[in-house]
Amino acid sequence: MNKFTSALALGLTLAASGPAFAVEFKTPQAQARSIIKDFAGDLKANLVSAMKDGGPINALQVCNSVAVPLATQASENSGWTVGRTSLKLRNQANAANAFEQKVMTDFEARKAAGADPQTLEHFEIVTLNGKKTFRYMKAIPTKAVCLKCHGSLQKQPLKNKLAELYPDDRATGYKAGQLRGAFTLSKVLK
Ligand code: HEC
Repeated sequence: MNKFTSALALGLTLAASGPAFAVEFKTPQAQARSIIKDFAGDLKANLVSAMKDGGPINALQVCNSVAVPLATQASENSGWTVGRTSLKLRNQANAANAFEQKVMTDFEARKAAGADPQTLEHFEIVTLNGKKTFRYMKAIPTKAVCLKCHGSLQKQPLKNKLAELYPDDRATGYKAGQLRGAFTLSKVLK
């Protein structure tokens, strides 16, 4: 192969591997954002269809049975550890570790100082058990649709169902715009 054809061959190889190239070199924070987008979309699709099928009590049961498995699935699909957490928990399985509590407390402070809750995120690289680990968190603001199950609950049947599923529920009494919690992701860097 002369210089020209080998340069051409290299050019073609790079062009053909274009998309894979792009994915491979996405920054970890960009990867985390796109995993969250998919995971949040799945959660929302389940919530909306469960509401349509059987109202809030049905949706509550669906959320109870699918939210954690969807997080597990998002983790398996992406190779990251993916979850949701909160300073005021509904499900103890989503409990925050010390790092997550600190970041969410910081999100509250940034929001109080005027930051837009939609844009609150935090990432850093830490060494955990000798391994470089990328940690990412993104705040989850409370929207009007969330208040059915996280606001000041009015309907007795829904309250009863919540008390039955989550006797220690602390995730009610929210108002739209407040921070409901955060997505939390991590990945060991190679
Ligand atoms: C139909 C009732 C319902 C609605 C509506 C609802 N949630 Fe939840 N939410 C739940 C249930 C049930 C859980 C516990 C499920 C789990 O994660 O194990 C939960 C858990 C969560 C958690 C995980 C942390 C924790 O406290 O366990 C977050 C964050 C959350 N919800 C945010 C939201 C947001 C934001 C909205 C609106 C976009 C919303 N929820 C709407 C029922 C609901």
